[in-house]
Amino acid sequence: MPKRERRRVVAAEPVGPYTLLRVERAGLNAGIPGQFFMLEAPGRLLPRPMSLCLATPSELAFLIDPIGPGTRALCTLQTGAELAILGPLGNGFDLRVERPLLVGGGIGVAPFPYLSETLGGPPAVLGFRSSWHAEAAALVPNAEVVIEPTYVTESMPSGHDVLACGPESMLEAVRELAPHAQLAWEAPMACGYGACYGCAVEIGGELKRLCVEGPVLAAA
Ligand SMILES: Cc1cc2nc3c(=O)[nH]c(=O)nc-3n(C[C@H](O)[C@H](O)[C@H](O)COP(=O)(O)OP(=O)(O)OC[C@H]3O[C@@H](n4cnc5c(N)ncnc54)[C@H](O)[C@@H]3O)c2cc1C
Ligand code: FES
Repeated sequence: MPKRERRRVVAAEPVGPYTLLRVERAGLNAGIPGQFFMLEAPGRLLPRPMSLCLATPSELAFLIDPIGPGTRALCTLQTGAELAILGPLGNGFDLRVERPLLVGGGIGVAPFPYLSETLGGPPAVLGFRSSWHAEAAALVPNAEVVIEPTYVTESMPSGHDVLACGPESMLEAVRELAPHAQLAWEAPMACGYGACYGCAVEIGGELKRLCVEGPVLAAA
């Protein structure tokens, strides 16, 4: 079980409508791509789960969509501010894939820069709702970008090992086309390590904790 640590913010940079929150690494384990960290959100009681976006020897970075009070507070952190960080948590992507294809939608591209680097820059198909949102694609090498009304599932080549992250409707559509895909799901999380059952979802007819069993699950 990782320990809760305090780290300083190096910078919070805009990437289209999102913010890349860069945090000093100082010995933190980056984990496996697809794993997540619980980040203290200033002024909020509960931390918020975030996928690791980028890891360098000196920094960990998170790509954040400011959709509510916690994410907005994280996006407005100033350089030098401190926050508590817990992770890496959960199960990441299985990296034993022969022909990887990354398929992402919107803020679902967040874990892909680190995943892409780990897999040696595989092809990616990324979908966004506008060209402003699509600025995040610059963080993912070798990416084909589609903008709505075109969907990523219309541009997915066949014959690949698909690793996907995005909204539930996109993951369901990917699952139809690629039954062996690995899918990174989301659920509201309070603890992130199996203690609260706040993230319980039905998997194979049973209630399971997504923070423990996932967030990455086999589509089948
Ligand atoms: C494993 C994991 C990894 C994540 N990685 C990222 C990431 O890299 N970047 C990023 O921007 N976001 C990520 N998220 C989502 C992020 O944690 C939520 O957007 C955030 O917790 C919302 O907090 P808030 O206070 O801003 O908004 P809230 O007020 O808590 O929520 C705003 C709205 O979003 C809904 N909502 C909140 N959290 C979730 C959720 N997890 N799933 C579905 N609906 C939700 C709420 O019901 C509400 O309608 C991740 C979530 C999980 C579970
Ligand atoms: S978030 Fe607490 S059990 Fe999953």
